[in-house]
Amino acid sequence: MCGIIGIVGTKPVAERLIESLKRLEYRGYDSAGIAAQVNGVLERRRAPGKLRELEAVLAAHPLNATTGIGHTRWATHGAPTEANAHPHIAGRVAVVHNGIIENFAELKAELQAAGRVFESQTDTEVVAHLLDQALSTGLEPLEAFEATLKRLSGAFALCVLISGEDDVILAARNGPPLAVGYGQGEMFIGSDGLALGPFTNRVSYLEDGDHVIATHDRARIFNASGTEVVREIKTVPASAVLMEKGNYRHFMEKEIHDQPEGCQRTIAAYVDTLTGRATIAGVDFSTLERIQIVACGTSYIAGMIGRYLIEQLADLPVDVEIASEFRYRQPALRPGALAIAMSQSGETADTLAAFRHCAAAGMKTAAIVNATESTIAREADVVWPIHCGPEIGVASTKAFTAQVSVMIAIAIAAARDRNRIDAAEEQRLVRVLIEAPRLIAEAINLEGSIKDIAVEIAKARDVLFLGRGPMSALALEGALKLKEISYIHAEGYAAGELKHGPIALVDEATPIIILAPYDSWFEKSASNMSEVMARGGQVVFITDPDGAKHAPAGARVVVTAPASDPLVSALVMSAPIQLLAYHVAVVKGADVDQPRNLAKSVTVE
Ligand code: M6R
Repeated sequence: MCGIIGIVGTKPVAERLIESLKRLEYRGYDSAGIAAQVNGVLERRRAPGKLRELEAVLAAHPLNATTGIGHTRWATHGAPTEANAHPHIAGRVAVVHNGIIENFAELKAELQAAGRVFESQTDTEVVAHLLDQALSTGLEPLEAFEATLKRLSGAFALCVLISGEDDVILAARNGPPLAVGYGQGEMFIGSDGLALGPFTNRVSYLEDGDHVIATHDRARIFNASGTEVVREIKTVPASAVLMEKGNYRHFMEKEIHDQPEGCQRTIAAYVDTLTGRATIAGVDFSTLERIQIVACGTSYIAGMIGRYLIEQLADLPVDVEIASEFRYRQPALRPGALAIAMSQSGETADTLAAFRHCAAAGMKTAAIVNATESTIAREADVVWPIHCGPEIGVASTKAFTAQVSVMIAIAIAAARDRNRIDAAEEQRLVRVLIEAPRLIAEAINLEGSIKDIAVEIAKARDVLFLGRGPMSALALEGALKLKEISYIHAEGYAAGELKHGPIALVDEATPIIILAPYDSWFEKSASNMSEVMARGGQVVFITDPDGAKHAPAGARVVVTAPASDPLVSALVMSAPIQLLAYHVAVVKGADVDQPRNLAKSVTVE
């Protein structure tokens, strides 16, 4: 989603804004712009496309100033053109915005009736006009800003410059996150700690409803009722703002390779290696009636895998639902259940809304998040962080396996709390989990052979992924990864569904990727493989050494991942499908880290 940066600085601002916007690129965007106070006058530079286009504009028309605002725009209202790119200027006001002003149409009609002329199709421009209108009545900037905020409905993070008010930035948060950074005689506003990383590690996270006026040496923060408040200043650890690709070409490639370490750190947080126990703080699973997981995209798939494991090991009912559907139906919620929001970013609008819906029904809430300062984390009764480090590639990889790692630890803890396993079995399962990062590393070593397969898959128009049990969820993930970064149409199916429809897609041109470790579902998956091959289907069979021994002859390719206990096979089998999607995208020359139309964190519905 859109990224925001604002700087009240003492050094040339244009380069700093661009530096920060580069750190926000990962969120996904299709145009960018900056505005600054040049001798008391607002000037801006904008460009559709990537930041290099904006840099080219700046090279031709530099902006010499020390205070300014910048934006990466992910289009919602209006195409990604220069006219729709932020900042939007009306009179004395320049504004950048993340989110949606839901009542913009009626505000625009009102402003147009008052003679105001609009230059863009965006919802954002009404904010600039409203604020300029309020200023023209003689209000002070802060008063005018507060009057403007009262007129807006929807979800928004805003950052504003006012001409003639040198070295002042106004900002507000109502939904999408916003942080204040504290420098030496400088203040910063940013969408997240990553954006502020080059300038300061002293950061306050605004609460929902907060607004702020920042000058060189202070930021005055006010809450939703207008009372001045103090928000804790936290020191952001260097590891949380590191954004280096190292020797890798793409963040996604690096993040795939980061997984053994990311899972290891995550697992270490949820097991006690000395006692061999799973340690999930804050919830007693013995008294729980059920678990409700709400999530979107890859996080939803991690929840599906969790459901298999928790129900199987702990005999505890688990529902997993796509948050955008959950929030708009009337699910039968009961206080005796635990709601878990699964979200890498902790800011996904639908997940947050579904989560709040559960909290409002009196359910205890837990958050499995990567961003521990996120809204979902801050609103949860219990937070179970994943510890895989910032994930920059839009396609989620290391967050997914870290989420699954937490799900496995929960399954073990719940099974113990509900007396479904004894201490010896708990210790065995914990050992299996601790061993998983090593197996993930071995699976990543299959990269060479997967690269070769990718060359073939890159020619396909459609690809089918099949699996049973937890592998049926992983089939969905394989298809999601492939389609989002290579733009090849892909479907994931529970293999048992094959004969109920998808088999009609089988022909020589459609690769079928079957995920089948040698587990209790193997024979049935192998039969599905035979059915596909009998119809000319080209099968890529991803299995383990025993599965390779027992596989029916005739698969075009067999990928042999390391043998693993079914408890962790979803972790081990993830790397091959991620690597496959990655290398197909590379072969196709796609923009791996910032695929078209996608945003890293979807903070609007
Ligand atoms: O930040 P979240 O985990 O809540 O994000 C959920 C989805 O938007 C995300 O997983 C998305 O599907 C990814 N692009 C998948 O790679």
